[in-house]
Formats: sequence, structure tokens, C-alpha cells
Amino acid sequence: MLGLKVDRLGLDLDRALGEWGEALEAARGGLLARKGLPGSLLGWMDLPEDTETLRAVRRYQESLDFVEDLVHIGIGGSSLGAMALEEALGEGRVRVHYVDHVEPTPLRLLLDRLDPRRTLVHVVSKSGTTLETLSAFALFLDWLKKSLPDWKRHVVVTTDPTRGPLRRFAEEEGLASFPIPEEVGGRYSALSPVGLLPLAFSGADLEALLAGARMANRLAGRPFGENLPLKTALIQHLAYLEGRTITVFMPYSARMRHVPAWFVQLHDESLGKVDRKGQRVGTTALPALGPQDQHAQVQLFREGPKDKLIVLVLPLWDEPLAIPQGPGLPGFLAGRTFLDVLQAQAESTEEALAEAGQRAYTLTLDRVDAYHLGWLLQHLMWQTAFLGELWGVNAFDQPGVELGKRLTLERLEKGGRFP
Ligand code: PA5
Repeated sequence: MLGLKVDRLGLDLDRALGEWGEALEAARGGLLARKGLPGSLLGWMDLPEDTETLRAVRRYQESLDFVEDLVHIGIGGSSLGAMALEEALGEGRVRVHYVDHVEPTPLRLLLDRLDPRRTLVHVVSKSGTTLETLSAFALFLDWLKKSLPDWKRHVVVTTDPTRGPLRRFAEEEGLASFPIPEEVGGRYSALSPVGLLPLAFSGADLEALLAGARMANRLAGRPFGENLPLKTALIQHLAYLEGRTITVFMPYSARMRHVPAWFVQLHDESLGKVDRKGQRVGTTALPALGPQDQHAQVQLFREGPKDKLIVLVLPLWDEPLAIPQGPGLPGFLAGRTFLDVLQAQAESTEEALAEAGQRAYTLTLDRVDAYHLGWLLQHLMWQTAFLGELWGVNAFDQPGVELGKRLTLERLEKGGRFP
């Protein structure tokens, strides 16, 4: 289960839910009223139900026996969710390499390391027009074509179901391909083939992933007292009203080390906007990791400005790996587990933050597995969608990001060089 621990938050959540009931109902009602409307981009709510696509991805993965290296080319929403999930859940059946950049040396080093006969290139772009993705894909395609007569077996395309240059290319060349449903935007697409495909190759439990996400969907429809995403959205909202303009996302899990980057993109790209009244709104999501950041950012989180809401994410169970006696370790630690230490660290951080008047709460996961990560990611999508309604912004567009893409192309078209 995904739990919420607010005992040190310094806020009477039940009372706040009562006081904000009307606004929360309006937020949920406004969001759900748009479901199904063309262009609403709410298709992410349906992804957990799509077991047919899951089976198609699985069949495709089982049909290829040569894959030792998977090169996943995509950026932003076409990469971060896949990376977060696969790094946490993959069983290492293949090596997955993420190409979400255009830096020459790492591109060349990766190509040098790979054997084309054992490599599958997965190119991912909803629009099919993103420069970083298309240029890196061109490089890997060229390499495959020069190396293998049957290069087509080594390419799989995930893009819009009907539109865009990548869809056309896949159709013209007869390549394997998967759709990102029309009503699913980039940063909400982790549970589509964008994430399912690398997860299938690396051996993760896709069924459990979607089952966990369905649990988040169910809770989002429940009354406020049982509605986890409405609760966390309200906490985020109240912190914002208090002037806490930074929301820290800090899992205590090495396996979840890439989840903060996914959350940062989801939160910031969805909510940092000009609202319907022309006001700039949004809070800045800040990535952190426990316990590493207890030796770094937690100093600032405790004693720095009171401009933050700190969200810890903690697994309640892991394998009982005991700490042996060792030099310098206090005797009372003998026989305790590594998980005991991890949990003591998270609790101590929350306590230290609360003592200093900082606001913090903990999301608990029974364990770090596909079910709970599916639940967590879908929960955070609901939280973001509810916040979009509360803050009067469209949480599903990204005009600032689109402008950057356009200006880059215009600059290159004019032959512009740096500086
Ligand atoms: O969330 C978004 O929509 C963006 O971050 C996109 O995922 C990113 O810009 C990549 O776009 P595309 O998938 O069209 O290549």
C-alpha cells in the first residue's frame, strides 16, 4: 500500500479537508468533466487499463532473441519515466542505455561499446519532431544501416498513433512500432509503451505495474478522507499559500534514484504557468535523495529559509540484510538490518525538519516493487492534475518548452553559432 504519514506536518489535515471541501470537489469535478474531450490530454487516466498494449509489447519483446543492449532514444517525458521505472524495477536482462542528449563524446563512446548485432534501438517521441531525439536517432540509424543488412529488425518506434514524421517513417519502412495514445502527453506517458517497452526487455513485472496504477485511479475517485491524491494536492496547495514555493521530493531508496527527476519534470512542466487570470504561479520541485542528501541538502532544508515543503518517500519493507559487527560500529547495531538504518534516517530527518519549523511529510511504500511504483507514479500524476485545477492552469500543455524547441530550430536554420 501507499501510505501518507503527516504526524509531524504541523497541519490538521482532516480539518483542512473539511474547510477546502468545496474547492477540492470543484477541482476534481472540473478535471473529470473534461475527460474524453478531444485535446484534454487526460488519456493517462486510462493507461493502467490498457492490458492489450501491455500484451503486444510483451509479444514483441519475446519475438526478439538477439537483444543484449537496448538504446532508448528520447527526451523529457519520452525518457524520464522509462528511466525511473526501469532503473528501479529492471532485472538486468538487457543493458538499457538512455540517449536524452546531443553531447558528441558520450554518443561516440556508446556507439564504440555496442555490437549492432545485439542492439535494439527504441526511438521515442510523441511529436516525432524533437531535434535532440531525431538527430541522435539519425546517428544510430546510420550506424545500424551501415552494419546490418537486416537493420529493420533492430529498430522500434514509439510515437503518435497516426501523425508526425516518425510515424510516417515507421510505416514507410515497415518497422515495428507502438503508439503513444493521442490524448497522452509526454510527461504522463510512462505507463504507455514509452516505459513498458524498456521494462519488458529488462524483465520487470508489467502487470503489477499497471495494477498499482489502477489502485491510484480508484483512490482518486473516493471521498476526501480516503482520497490520497486529493490529500497530498491539498497539502501542496496549503504550503504554497504559506509562501513555501519549493517542493522537495526525497525518496529513501537507491533504486528510486531517478524518480525525483521524473517528478521534477512532471510537476514543474505541468504547473509552472501563467494562470487564467494572468498571474505567474507554480512551485519549484527540487530533487533529493536519502540518505545521501542528509550529508548535503538537508542542512539547508532544516536551517535555511522556510520556503520549502519536504516530501520523504520511504519503503517499509526490504530484504532483511543484517549489518555484521565491524570496525567503528556501535555494539547496539549488531544484528540490526540495513532497512532499520534507512528508516531511522528518514524518521530522524523528518523530526529534525519539524523541530526547525519546516513542513515535511512522508509517503510510505510497502516495498519498492512494480505494484507500488505504478501506484506512486500514477498517484503523483493525479496530484499534479488536481493542483493544476486548484491553481487555474492547464497542467497538460507546455508553451515554454515548445518555444525553446522553436527558437533552437530557428537559430540553427539561420546558421547561428555560439556565441
Ligand atoms: O512532457 C512533455 O510533453 C515534454 O517534456 C516532452 O516529453 C519532450 O519535450 C519530448 O517531446 P517528444 O516526445 O514530442 O519528443
